[in-house]
Amino acid sequence: VSTNTKIKLLCQPTHESWLQLALNNLDVILLDHSHCERKAAGVAMNMLSRYPSHESLIYQLTAIAREELEHFEQVNQWLQKKGIPLAPLKPSPYGATLKNAIRRHEPDQLLDSLLVSALIEARSHERLGLLADNCPDMDLAKFYRGLMASEARHYGIYWLLATKYFDRQIVDQRLQELARLESDILKNLHPEARIHS
Ligand SMILES: [Fe+2]
Ligand SMILES: [Fe+2]
Repeated sequence: VSTNTKIKLLCQPTHESWLQLALNNLDVILLDHSHCERKAAGVAMNMLSRYPSHESLIYQLTAIAREELEHFEQVNQWLQKKGIPLAPLKPSPYGATLKNAIRRHEPDQLLDSLLVSALIEARSHERLGLLADNCPDMDLAKFYRGLMASEARHYGIYWLLATKYFDRQIVDQRLQELARLESDILKNLHPEARIHS
């Protein structure tokens, strides 16, 4: 796998087999990507409702929610251009497994939500980079390259928010646990092509 970006938060880099699966199913990847962007916007929106007096969080996540919705729109324009109809798609277990790891009481729920989002953004950044480097459609590759930069910013923002509301030591320790889980989920390649197979 030709990745020049060793992503800081991630425990393990993506395996070559994911890239092959993705390149063999670029249409499905594009459709799944549309779902990912919509969900990313939704996750940010949910946090805005859950933490209405956390000012830094509100300011930062308002911008992220808007950007993810823009990405959603842009990916959907690609779907239209390629004649791929919008349709539901069964997700890989990745998102639900990470969501289950979020503790259900505060303040742990806030910490876990921020770190899970940071990890998902970091993995998306890494994988969009792999698609940008290897996608045979040069225009689409360019599109992936552009999104990759935003996702890098997003994972930085989620991580910074975690360090704003929690002690660095607590953040680092929990991040290590969640990063290991995140990499473990991806160890067995999900047989269907998804951004997070
Ligand atoms: Fe995005
Ligand atoms: Fe993002």
